[in-house]
Amino acid sequence: NGQNSFSGKKVLITAGPTYEAIDPVRFIGNHSSGKMGYALAETIARKGGAVTLVSGPVSLAVPAGVELVRVQSAAEMHDACMKRQADYDIAILSAAVADYTPEEVAAEKIKKSEAGLTLTLRKTPDILASLGAAKKKGQLLVGFALETNNELANARKKLESKNADMIVLNSLNDSGAGFGKPTNKITLVLDNGRELAFETKTKEAVAEDIAGQVLQMIS
Ligand code: C5P
Repeated sequence: NGQNSFSGKKVLITAGPTYEAIDPVRFIGNHSSGKMGYALAETIARKGGAVTLVSGPVSLAVPAGVELVRVQSAAEMHDACMKRQADYDIAILSAAVADYTPEEVAAEKIKKSEAGLTLTLRKTPDILASLGAAKKKGQLLVGFALETNNELANARKKLESKNADMIVLNSLNDSGAGFGKPTNKITLVLDNGRELAFETKTKEAVAEDIAGQVLQMIS
């Protein structure tokens, strides 16, 4: 019964890392390449979806037909997503959002000295949890999870605590999966208690699998 097009659907996708400023020249970041999120944007746009891609700093070409919203920090990514909260049919949050950000951003470059430097960090807003709390009937929310232990149990906990409809679990225990790699190995954790495990594939092929499952869920 599944449909094969995202025609008429507004799809919000987050991708890449976030950069949390320490001072005008330094930041806290991570190794996310953005490849998975950009592959999802490309696949879903090609299948007819109206895709808005909220992207942290990456060096990837914007897929054809995709609206790009560039952001730097977790706070900016949160604001960009919440602004569009009432307006999406499907949200897929693949960004590697920083969990902590400096309490204060120094106005000038911090001078080095022989003494050490202590930064105080505070929690960033959780975009997936915010969209989950605000989710309306008919909206579908997909999150990602990267776990190193008790993978499935933690992914299922995440699904429930963040009010998501599906979690894409990345296995770090697989040499073909993860940051900067061209391939990924995923298990889709669904809200009906089921799990779908896939082989290691290119991120483009993984995007097809995720898009296919989403199409089944909206039809
Ligand atoms: O809780 P955890 O960070 O493991 O959840 C990962 C999922 O939550 C991913 O989909 C990620 O994009 C999203 N996330 C978010 N905002 C954060 C942290 C994570 O949207 N501040």
